[in-house]
Amino acid sequence: MSHDAPSAQITRYGSNAGQPLTRRDGLLKVTGGATYAADNNPEGLLYAVTAVSTIARGRVTSLNVAAAKAHPGVVEVLTPENRPPLAHDPNDKMPPFGFRIEVLQDNTVRYANQPIALVVAETLEAATEGAALLNPQFEAEAPRTDFLNGVRFQPPAVGIGSPPKVEHGDVEAGLAAAARVMEAEYETPAQYHNAMEPHAVVAEWKGDRLTLDMPNQALAMSCASYAAYFGIPAENVVIRSPFLGGGFGSKAILNGPQMLAIIAARMLKRPVKLALSRAQMYGPVGHRGNTWQKLRIGVDERGHLTALHHRAISATSTFDEFLEPSANASTHLYASPALRAEHEGLRLDVGTPGPMRAPGEASGSAALEVAMDEAAEAVRIDPLEFRLRNYAETEPGTGRPYSSKALRECYAEGARRFGWASRPLAPRQMRDDNGFLVGWGMGTALFPCPHFPAEARATLRADGTALVETAGADMGQGAWTALAQIAAEALGLDPDRVEFHSGVSTLPDGGVAGGSAHTASAGLALHNAGRDAIETLAAFATSEPESPLFGAGNIGVVARNGRLHRRDDESRSESYVEILKRAGQSEVIGSGRSARDPELAQAYAMYSHGAVFAEVKVDPDLGQVRVTRLVGAFAAGRIINPRLVESQYFGGMIWGASFALHEKAVVDRRTGRVMNGDLAEYHVPVNADIPSLEAILVPEVDPYVNPLGVKGVGEIGITGTVGAVANAVWHATGFRVRKFPIRIENLI
Ligand code: MOS
Repeated sequence: MSHDAPSAQITRYGSNAGQPLTRRDGLLKVTGGATYAADNNPEGLLYAVTAVSTIARGRVTSLNVAAAKAHPGVVEVLTPENRPPLAHDPNDKMPPFGFRIEVLQDNTVRYANQPIALVVAETLEAATEGAALLNPQFEAEAPRTDFLNGVRFQPPAVGIGSPPKVEHGDVEAGLAAAARVMEAEYETPAQYHNAMEPHAVVAEWKGDRLTLDMPNQALAMSCASYAAYFGIPAENVVIRSPFLGGGFGSKAILNGPQMLAIIAARMLKRPVKLALSRAQMYGPVGHRGNTWQKLRIGVDERGHLTALHHRAISATSTFDEFLEPSANASTHLYASPALRAEHEGLRLDVGTPGPMRAPGEASGSAALEVAMDEAAEAVRIDPLEFRLRNYAETEPGTGRPYSSKALRECYAEGARRFGWASRPLAPRQMRDDNGFLVGWGMGTALFPCPHFPAEARATLRADGTALVETAGADMGQGAWTALAQIAAEALGLDPDRVEFHSGVSTLPDGGVAGGSAHTASAGLALHNAGRDAIETLAAFATSEPESPLFGAGNIGVVARNGRLHRRDDESRSESYVEILKRAGQSEVIGSGRSARDPELAQAYAMYSHGAVFAEVKVDPDLGQVRVTRLVGAFAAGRIINPRLVESQYFGGMIWGASFALHEKAVVDRRTGRVMNGDLAEYHVPVNADIPSLEAILVPEVDPYVNPLGVKGVGEIGITGTVGAVANAVWHATGFRVRKFPIRIENLI
């Protein structure tokens, strides 16, 4: 990892950045004090294990339930024969995320690793043995595993699985008028989240009240969905999710195995624990679906786009609709007089894909950024210069201004730090001292800024400390710390004096930890809650003749370091402790909500931007690729905590390198099973694969995106990086690889 001179720090932590505090949860995590869902062991606990299909398509013809039930310790076996009915039909999609869940509806097998029974026992060992004794027999049909035998379909016009078709201008005319047309096809494989913590749940019913210990990215929404399935009020469901060992989108969506454990707990009137094995996570809990993408780019003599056409075919299951919205990546990045982005679906015998870190943008920008590199090559223009010539000053298609867009600065700063200016235009020009081919590539990074409704509470206490609360989720991104910082600022307190509670659904709804929008969404609610508490406190002081703030009601007060100051004369101040004491109050409670101004959201295009530069070295004899440097420069509005943000960018960039060179679920065409469904063979990078990373935090002030000026940082790092690495591989070797991951066999 590189270290910077002090002058560089100013650039890295831009003028609008807050304190780089370390994670509040760090000590708990490294000392083992943090508890995860499966660490909970309530009185009378039973253990559940799912039996899963070993075929991808067909029918279960027999299950030896008697043998499983006869095993000592086995309490019950759930199958389609005896699974209790649900209040909401599981075949019907549940809003708002609208996924059908698989909970033993029938004997049909729709994908490998589909739960086909649930064995519940007094011990984990007995449940595991019981599941083995079921000895399932199948009637298998040939699985549809790829583009050749999948069933293509037009996605419905609306819904989560239906990325909208975007079209403006005349694409065919633009291509016809172009000096050069670049046309190529790209493939991205199925990828799996592989969170360190598998999906797990401990479910406990008391009458019609349900408590769930589970990793969860969307507490309130999940409570409402579970309540609907069981026909109980949403407030009867409590989800406790203090820590998540990774989520990446997979823990925002309900899934079959966890539901089955909850069903079993109700049926047996005892708490039930279920934790998926690593292998069982390749199927029922979402993944990034395969894509086949085609790009056509028309360019005129001066290197300006005349047309951009991005067409994606995205895989989904046979029983649901979610499509990786890859072509969306082309709709908001480059200026083109004509643009078309469209999707088609492909039904395979797989578990339903779902959101996985930068859904659509990751796979789509992989194709787009390589295609842009190819278009630049076709007209012999430097790839960075080519992107600058096609810089979108307003949002393509809509013409809306950007709420802020420091992408030009990202390009400039990233290029400068990387040393891009000395890059030769042609490939295969650079070698290192060992004779390895060296290549430099770049890509643009972009991620939209959605906003989720959220609520929060802030309690100022008589001792001058505060408690702030919101039911958010920290899956490792540092939400505990960044959200507490936002609240502390609004409360005019040092973060050390602010206690932060989160991760349980009984707190005010913290919204969704997803869409790279958690800090902005839950953070704004906390900010408003803090301000609300301060207003109440100020009212006590300004209406009290003995207070130095008496009569300052119309002038206003400033909250700082645990004191309120008159805005017009900051020397006149009083501490929170004194104000509360005189008012005879033990505490003051403020509440806040988070919403974006709908008019601003309509008027402005809102995105985080960035530029990623990659260096690779390739062994000319073996084709082995090593990423030797990654420099990303990102602009994402106001930075609450630069240390955590840098860490998010690193994580994203590492995932990008992983996408480019490592990750792929390899499916056996005969059985439809993932053959590398474990962390030994599903390759993700280790430290040795990522030798040098740099993330530059480019200053950006955004007055419109939300009142905090905060954009998202969680997902953007993947976008741009995949293309940067692939383009560097081309620059090193002259091989243009359009199928991810790039492998040795593509390069010799
Ligand atoms: Mo993410 S795929 O928004 O958790």
